[in-house]
Amino acid sequence: MIRKLTLSALTALTLSTGGALAAAGESHIEDFAFSFEGPFGTFDQMQLQRGLQIYTEVCAACHGLKFVPVRTLSDDGGPALPQDQVRAYAAELASVPLPDGEERPRESSDHFPGSNLSNAPDLSLMAKARAGFHGPYGLGINQFFRGIGGPEYIASLLTGYTGEEKEEAGSTFYANTAFPGGWIAMAPPMSDGQVEFLDGHANDVHIMAQDVSAFLMWTAEPKMMARKQAGLTAVIFLTVLSVLLYLTNKRIWAGVKGKKHA
Ligand code: HEC
Repeated sequence: MIRKLTLSALTALTLSTGGALAAAGESHIEDFAFSFEGPFGTFDQMQLQRGLQIYTEVCAACHGLKFVPVRTLSDDGGPALPQDQVRAYAAELASVPLPDGEERPRESSDHFPGSNLSNAPDLSLMAKARAGFHGPYGLGINQFFRGIGGPEYIASLLTGYTGEEKEEAGSTFYANTAFPGGWIAMAPPMSDGQVEFLDGHANDVHIMAQDVSAFLMWTAEPKMMARKQAGLTAVIFLTVLSVLLYLTNKRIWAGVKGKKHA
């Protein structure tokens, strides 16, 4: 009986992971090291700011971030931009259409605009939507140690172009080693040195891919640092509580247990 149960559990496990891997085709995901991985990892504020700049100058031409309120750019634990910069940034974004056909300038209380290009997906939650590229994620243990995989996938996608192209049904597809199926409709969006950073930070594609992926992880999970901190506090609290309970227990029963030896 037990053997049967174990066998069916094993089959279920291999089927589920195998199925998901097969669906991902031969895609190759590089294991980038991100600052926010692991139980104590945190977002790197400067990296998020560079990622925002890359998103704004490159990706926003096609992709939107419609679930992200612009004001969160000043949140602690995020890019943490000063409020006046966030207001100025909001005013530069596409204006907000009003019901009467008019438009008004975007404010920091508004969300980012949606995608400009109909077949370019919104990127707000992409880093979570593409999570699970790290081995047997059914068990969750790899995600815990190596990160959830979504930002690795995006960075691998941006660096995974082979340079090959093909025409099919009137559209061009680009060979990409990370994209499931191997051919993506997004032309390689970045090139070395395309974005210039104020502090002169390195700007080859490999580094910029990582920066923009970190930024997209933040848009998908802006409260990650608060969540990790709450988790850590809970663990410390429970540890202290266990010790206290253990000592209390000893003390309460000390009289009864002591009698045996008397
Ligand atoms: C010229 C327009 C354009 C630009 C610029 C662009 N993209 Fe895309 N992107 C697309 C299109 C179109 C798709 C859909 C591709 C498909 O499904 O084959 C896409 C898909 C994606 C996907 C989803 C892949 C998947 O697994 O479904 C991600 C992630 C992505 N882009 C990230 C980015 C990032 C990050 C940038 C900026 C560095 C960027 N894109 C710039 C057009 C663009």
